[in-house]
Amino acid sequence: MRKIVIAGNWKMNMTPSEGSAFVEELKLKIKNIKSGCEIVVCVPDIDIAAISAALKDSGIKLGAQNAHWELKGAFTGETSVLGLKELGVEYVIIGHSERRQFFGEINRSVNQRVKTILEAGLKAIVCVGELLFERELGITTEIVSLQTKIALNGITAEQMDSVVIAYEPVWAIGTGKTATAEEADRVNGIIRGVVAELYTPQVAAATTIQYGGSMNAANAAELLAKPNVDGGLIGGASLKVSDFTAIIAAAQ
Ligand code: PGA
Repeated sequence: MRKIVIAGNWKMNMTPSEGSAFVEELKLKIKNIKSGCEIVVCVPDIDIAAISAALKDSGIKLGAQNAHWELKGAFTGETSVLGLKELGVEYVIIGHSERRQFFGEINRSVNQRVKTILEAGLKAIVCVGELLFERELGITTEIVSLQTKIALNGITAEQMDSVVIAYEPVWAIGTGKTATAEEADRVNGIIRGVVAELYTPQVAAATTIQYGGSMNAANAAELLAKPNVDGGLIGGASLKVSDFTAIIAAAQ
């Protein structure tokens, strides 16, 4: 009843020409896969126009990695959802831990961005997840609950159709350390419980909750087999067509 979404997060990798070549290869490779999942590539802003053209009629969705909360104005260096939408972007990652760690993203600005994205008619992939010291302190539940509640503040039940949540334990991102499938399932279940509390059990059951953090061709099947893991947000392994394709195939 809920969508399985496999999203690649290219981060600051691949130029427009490299990304276009990647997409051409990906389109060929996924032809033979019967995939019930939604496939998304979240690309650097400077690649968006080129990748949008390359993805035309492919069924693969285009995503961005951030967007400003204002539609326009004096915000040097920022990106508007209006421009993203015009170029064919459907998904925008918001609140990624790298934005939180390196670019001053806080829960409140995550919420502002999510609101603007949804009002523009785009979909948000909202990232939540605990730092290693927070896990060691035993406050993972508190952290992901707090992040989820603030990110969704003011978002209506109807708008939740356009929200994907990605549970990304920060200690697992780019480190090769994956949460066990059981642990990913458990925390995703906690997040689903928060959504049920904020809205209804029906809304929670219909919300796609991904896992992200060193998901790869070898561990994807086990993670994606868990009832609360509705897809993946994939960094490193989304940069190789063969690995990304294997993850898509594992999402059957
Ligand atoms: P990773 O990144 O798969 O390289 O760990 C995931 C992410 O940051 O979304």
